[in-house]
Amino acid sequence: MTDTKDRIQYITINRESKLNALNKFTLCELHEAFTDAFNNPGVGGIIITGAGLKAFVAGADISEFADLDATQGTAIARDNQALVFDLIANGNKPVIAAINGFALGGGLELAMACHSRIAAETARMGLPEVTLGLIPGYGGTQRLAQLVGKGKALEMILTADMITAADALQYGLVTHVVAPELLLAKAEELMLKMISNAPLALAAAIRSVNAGLTDGINGYETEIEEFGKCFGTEDFKEGVAAFLEKRKAEFKGR
Ligand code: COA
Repeated sequence: MTDTKDRIQYITINRESKLNALNKFTLCELHEAFTDAFNNPGVGGIIITGAGLKAFVAGADISEFADLDATQGTAIARDNQALVFDLIANGNKPVIAAINGFALGGGLELAMACHSRIAAETARMGLPEVTLGLIPGYGGTQRLAQLVGKGKALEMILTADMITAADALQYGLVTHVVAPELLLAKAEELMLKMISNAPLALAAAIRSVNAGLTDGINGYETEIEEFGKCFGTEDFKEGVAAFLEKRKAEFKGR
């Protein structure tokens, strides 16, 4: 389910009866919704949340895993990482996950692929895959360790424990925890602040931060190149002119 307001694209995972679990169809819809949002010049940033009060996403749809063999398991991890999780992480616009309830397994992996995460006080997060004889397959082993450090990540993955929103805040897994009724307003406040800045600079910042976390890429070198490219944009000239003229910049994304 998608909706656009004030250059913010809202994507709501709407499969409440199954706690918004990610089946094949939902993953395809997510791929389409994010591809559209990243390509739509009218969209500055994206907020993703789950329908209802109970779940953001309670994981990949376990019923679809039942008959898979090792080759098929490898294929769905590879395909879905590329089509959804890496697509979001490498997106050219900021994406905020508003975690309104359970974010488990693929649900937490989805939230971790986003550029920023905030949670309702009632949210619960975890990677319970080992209880099913699996491990996280949508980037969770990597992104959790990046976000909270190896020790806490391994403890969460190996115990399969769910943590509270308060713990997630303390771990650095989310950056704000608010009452459930304030979650979307907080996400909007953050997003409006982000998208008031120069769009090409936002995209360059995302690429540079990601570069240092990608095998075989020198993040410092990427930063130098991205920094340099910003000088060639109209938005840079507008940003500097606005500062010197003591007015608000009007960025065009060029
Ligand atoms: N895949 C498929 N269906 C799921 C699901 C998942 N990951 N998570 C929840 N559902 C379904 C349940 O099967 C149930 O469907 P039904 O009503 O047709 O039986 C419905 O969503 C409601 O879930 P239920 O388990 O009854 O709710 P609960 O409040 O008792 O428990 C959870 C909530 C989140 C603790 C529990 O649903 C759960 O453990 N889910 C799986 C979490 C998980 O292991 N995720 C990682 C997957 S790799």
